[in-house]
Amino acid sequence: MDGAGPGATYQAITVKPYSPTIGAEIDNIDLSKPLSDLELTEIRRAFTDHMVLFFRDQEISFDDHARFGEYFGTLGQHVGKRTNSQATNDLRVRKFHADGDTPRVSGNVWHTDQSCAPVPPLASVLYLHTLPPDGGGDTGFASMYAAYDALSDNMKSYLDGLTAHHDGTRQFGAGTPEADHPVVVRHPESGRKLLYVNEAFTSHINEVSREESKAILEFLYSHQMRPEWSTRFRWEPHSVAFWDNRCVHHRAISDYLPNIRSGYRIQVEGTEAPVAP
Ligand code: SIN
Repeated sequence: MDGAGPGATYQAITVKPYSPTIGAEIDNIDLSKPLSDLELTEIRRAFTDHMVLFFRDQEISFDDHARFGEYFGTLGQHVGKRTNSQATNDLRVRKFHADGDTPRVSGNVWHTDQSCAPVPPLASVLYLHTLPPDGGGDTGFASMYAAYDALSDNMKSYLDGLTAHHDGTRQFGAGTPEADHPVVVRHPESGRKLLYVNEAFTSHINEVSREESKAILEFLYSHQMRPEWSTRFRWEPHSVAFWDNRCVHHRAISDYLPNIRSGYRIQVEGTEAPVAP
């Protein structure tokens, strides 16, 4: 088979699924160099099919990191007023660093990046050069397509047409955006339906009582992180993870302090607000 979808063949890159539901490891590629047209076409296809791509043994500069992100859109800025990540001397790149002095590890609750924004980021590209010597510091990734597909037909009908409030002040302080998005959305490229609420940012479902919203969201949050549709990426020094923020939940696992875990992240701007199917 030589088209899109699981089982597609690739000529320029090697694509090895990381789990049955989500993630693929991409080999035979050097992100310190510009990509050929074929490499880029194949990476786009793998990204749509596998939702998060992992690259090993990459030695990339800020320019290399930014060039890779720019193949997929305009680079953006974090919308948070107060974030744990730190500025670098390059506006495009934020430092993701934790050690024994870190009060709170960034991203250690399941989330999509900045769903509190009216147009949340399309993707993030995280590059880690330093990992804890004894392991740890994995990142969890979960497919919101699979989470939606596994809901009962009754629950799918219930959620149809509901919207939820996403409140950035919960994570990043006053002045961070808030936005309403449909609870179920359609991915602009794959056309698939997915669940679009997350524990970090969603405060409530708008159309029902707060009690009902709380019970439904608690069910959805525990459903979304089930091991059947999630995986845990084990980093090595100089790995890169590139995730589709429109259909993937992720979570940093903070089990390694006071050891050091360090690297850099860029984010690619979204082009449209999440839309109901
Ligand atoms: C994040 O982007 O939320 C952090 C992910 C990680 O550090 O593993």
